[in-house]
Amino acid sequence: MQVWAVEPGAMQITWGFLPRGQLTVRVNRDHPISLVHEGGPGSVALESLSPGPKEIEITSVRGTFRLSTSIPERPGGEELCRIATISDLHLGSGNWGALRTIRDNDPGHRDHYDMRCASYAINEAIDWGASLLIIKGDSAHHRRERDFALVGQLVDRFPRLPMILIPGNHDVDRTHPIDIPLSVGKRGLRMERGVVTHDFPGVRVIAADTTIEFKGTGTMKHVEEQILTEAADSPTQNLIALHHQFQEHPVATYWPPGISRREGKRFLAGLNRAAPNSLVTSGHTHRNRSRRSGSVLVTEVGSTKDWPGVWGGYRVFDGGIYQTVRRVAAPSAIAWTEYSRRALLGLWSGWSPGTIEDRCVAL
Ligand SMILES: [Fe+2]
Ligand SMILES: [Fe+2]
Repeated sequence: MQVWAVEPGAMQITWGFLPRGQLTVRVNRDHPISLVHEGGPGSVALESLSPGPKEIEITSVRGTFRLSTSIPERPGGEELCRIATISDLHLGSGNWGALRTIRDNDPGHRDHYDMRCASYAINEAIDWGASLLIIKGDSAHHRRERDFALVGQLVDRFPRLPMILIPGNHDVDRTHPIDIPLSVGKRGLRMERGVVTHDFPGVRVIAADTTIEFKGTGTMKHVEEQILTEAADSPTQNLIALHHQFQEHPVATYWPPGISRREGKRFLAGLNRAAPNSLVTSGHTHRNRSRRSGSVLVTEVGSTKDWPGVWGGYRVFDGGIYQTVRRVAAPSAIAWTEYSRRALLGLWSGWSPGTIEDRCVAL
């Protein structure tokens, strides 16, 4: 059991297993909240919390658990909008793990695990208050017509939610070199193949395609100049969404390699000069990390469909942006993502989540 996520005023607590029964949650000895847990993995979101340290007491049929955390202050000024991101949906993937041996643990469900994790992630982001969704790559597991059809089916479930879709390396891989669709779904959501910019209250959203045809790695070459120009011209702070991460070392020290250190360093130096008030977030690594490069905040946010199974939330204030990373909480999604943590003989379990400071962080 852990405090998985915090953000101004709220937190998400998750657990790997509890038997069926009543749970009572109490924060700082305040009024208890009761809920019935159906058994297995689960989560609870607590709202309306004041900033500062919190002692949490959770009583279940297994006994009492004690956790502590701190609720962050708001970055300052008025809250102007909320934006969500998802990435690495891998719709059309049949299994998971290095040996592809981890298969769906809920075959009776109407959706396969990849679709149900992505679908519940979007539902939960809407409930949280997102007014825009950025899908930052690897929405299709392979470059196949049937995988892009699944991406279309997914986005059509949410016809009223504005979305931005950029490709990842899996969308441009060499499995079946069909033409990448120009758009997906009946709603005709464009697959953005360059740089796209939208101004939202308090934030300029810039999303860019970093893919290289048939390759797993990424590049800034075709998009760097335009991103820097758009960011520099922005009247507000910037949220920049990419698929590939910037490698921190000259050689890739972990899988999968992303954008070379040389290209990443040059871009981040340019961004610090042009628009230091920027947050850059990527996917691709299926893990959660964050670091500062000068004034710029650089984050990686995990996949919807494998442990820990997350989406990113960005709360835009006058005085900054707060990133939080929530686990997809729907029972049949979290049951799958808990099950999927055994990948790489269990090593995935410790590698992917990052720390709470990696996930929940302010620009
Ligand atoms: Fe991926
Ligand atoms: Fe990727």
